[in-house]
Amino acid sequence: MNEITPNESRTGDEAPEEMTRRRFFEKLSIALGGLCAAILGVPLVGFVIAPLFRKGPAEWLALGKVDEFEIGKTVNVTITDPSSLPWAGVTSKSAVWLRRVKEDKFIAFSVHCTHMGCPVRWLADAELFMCPCHGGVFYSDGTVAAGPPPAPLIRQEVRIAHGQVEIKSAPIPITTTL
Ligand code: FES
Repeated sequence: MNEITPNESRTGDEAPEEMTRRRFFEKLSIALGGLCAAILGVPLVGFVIAPLFRKGPAEWLALGKVDEFEIGKTVNVTITDPSSLPWAGVTSKSAVWLRRVKEDKFIAFSVHCTHMGCPVRWLADAELFMCPCHGGVFYSDGTVAAGPPPAPLIRQEVRIAHGQVEIKSAPIPITTTL
């Protein structure tokens, strides 16, 4: 006949106080592991995502020589966003719609629709900007003609310097209407 001595457990070979000590060390190991992961992980995650929230400095971007642009025409000019991350690749490319209004006057519109950022197209015959995503329409001065865009196209500052047309860089204007 088997007898259970006071130091033996009915469910295993360990005494109750030994199990308690083992559980304590298990929990301590988990807590220390979590603490180490947090100490190492938080700065690492911060390093990776911080550039996404950093605003780049505004810069003047050259679009071309003044004489390259015809008076009265609205043309699409590709630009490189200076605030992009070094590994952004083609996503750092953007564009503006540039119009030479008269000899020494230009206006520039961000190509991004103010609804959700899709690139708008200029329809010269209709003198309208059209957004292909949700049917937004803008007049030639950038004001909203129809559709969901909540605001006019963003006008970007333009200047002429050393015979070059330049625009001031600006973040992509995206409004959330959801
Ligand atoms: S993104 Fe242009 S209408 Fe929605």
